[in-house]
Amino acid sequence: MSDIFRPYEKLVEITILGKTFLVPEKNSLLRAFQFISPETIPYGRFCWNQECQYCKVNCQLFDDDQARPILSCKFLVSEGMSISDLAPELIGCLRSKLGQAAQAVSGEEPVGTAGNAEP
Ligand code: FES
Repeated sequence: MSDIFRPYEKLVEITILGKTFLVPEKNSLLRAFQFISPETIPYGRFCWNQECQYCKVNCQLFDDDQARPILSCKFLVSEGMSISDLAPELIGCLRSKLGQAAQAVSGEEPVGTAGNAEP
């Protein structure tokens, strides 16, 4: 599987919905998501070609003062990236890695809390 990634020497730290991950530098952000979740990203409905928009995220770079929308198939990953929102297709693919953070973004009730809300 390693040849689907562009050659890299080190892993960089990024944050997705407050969770920290190490991913290979010099690769697109979508490739980084594949590194995190190799069992789901290849089966997502991604064109990998800047057309479908299913890979869109809101992302703040290390030296940015605010988040901006980017296409993760186009944008290279960089140390300190912070992703604050993801397209539903990405949420679906990364759900098991993101846990409760993914549920909060997709508006789902965490498992086991349905019906326990205060009036
Ligand atoms: S994967 Fe289709 S636009 Fe990025």
